[in-house]
Amino acid sequence: MGRFAVIGAGTMGSGIAQVAARAGFDVVLRDVAPEYLDRGLTTIAASLDRDVKKERLTPAQKDEILARIHPTTELAAVKDAEIVVEAIVENFAAKAALFSELDALTRPEAILATNTSSISITKIGAVTKRPTQVIGMHFMNPVPVMPLVEVIRGRATSDATTNAILELGAKLGKTCLIANDFPGFVSNRILMPMLNEAMFALYEGVATREAIDGIMKLGMNHPMGPLTLADFIGLDVCLAILDVLYEGFGDPKYRACPLLRQYVAAGWLGRKTGRGFYEY
Ligand code: NAI
Repeated sequence: MGRFAVIGAGTMGSGIAQVAARAGFDVVLRDVAPEYLDRGLTTIAASLDRDVKKERLTPAQKDEILARIHPTTELAAVKDAEIVVEAIVENFAAKAALFSELDALTRPEAILATNTSSISITKIGAVTKRPTQVIGMHFMNPVPVMPLVEVIRGRATSDATTNAILELGAKLGKTCLIANDFPGFVSNRILMPMLNEAMFALYEGVATREAIDGIMKLGMNHPMGPLTLADFIGLDVCLAILDVLYEGFGDPKYRACPLLRQYVAAGWLGRKTGRGFYEY
């Protein structure tokens, strides 16, 4: 697999493009407007600069990596890709529209992967005529740092597609672990109820935010407390994923904490808006 395309140059797409270019792939990076591409490329350059400072990369290597990333606003630029990784907004209608365009545009043998955190791979695959070649490649944030890719097989995903993605993940220097297509896959099915429980603990006055986070951090050896992590992920994202779990399983154990719903309604979305469970 040589020709790589990433759709969406936001937080995740820029990280995926960086990791692929660093592994030696030529990467077409597509977003809808030049300012989003510029923002993505600035993030990539800043991340590579940190590696130059730490002497993990030479300035020449940094320039080579950047030169392998080809930004574009034209979707047609991805037509020769062998692998497309989609990282646009977490919205089924938007992803469905894009996958049906990609299906019409790309070579018949190309694999179409999605970085979705919570949308069904089977549903995304079903909008294409090649559901055997649609798969989840769930990178973690920040992509250049986190070692895992959760690979999600839709109902129709073939073994050949899965194997090709495992090989690709290894080339990117990531550890791939496979999950089947159920709401939240493995990562968010286990993580989100824990974050939600921390919110209920705060809501019910069990402890202060600092105590809840400190207890989980020092007591369970987690790198950060659950409320800090929720602020980092984005409270709107946490709520959307909890709603997917709640609807998908119909089990009240996934009911989002009312405090989370209120914070999202207030626009307190965590780090990105300067306020969530903490102030930034
Ligand atoms: P983001 O909002 O930072 O970036 C999305 C980008 O996609 C924006 O630049 C937007 O202009 C662009 N875009 C929207 N529609 C497009 C289209 N049709 N064609 C090309 N570009 C388009 O979002 P983020 O956080 O990078 O998330 C992307 C995906 O990754 C979502 O599905 C999300 O659930 C998933 N994800 C996010 C994680 C996170 O921690 N942020 C972690 C793992 C997965």
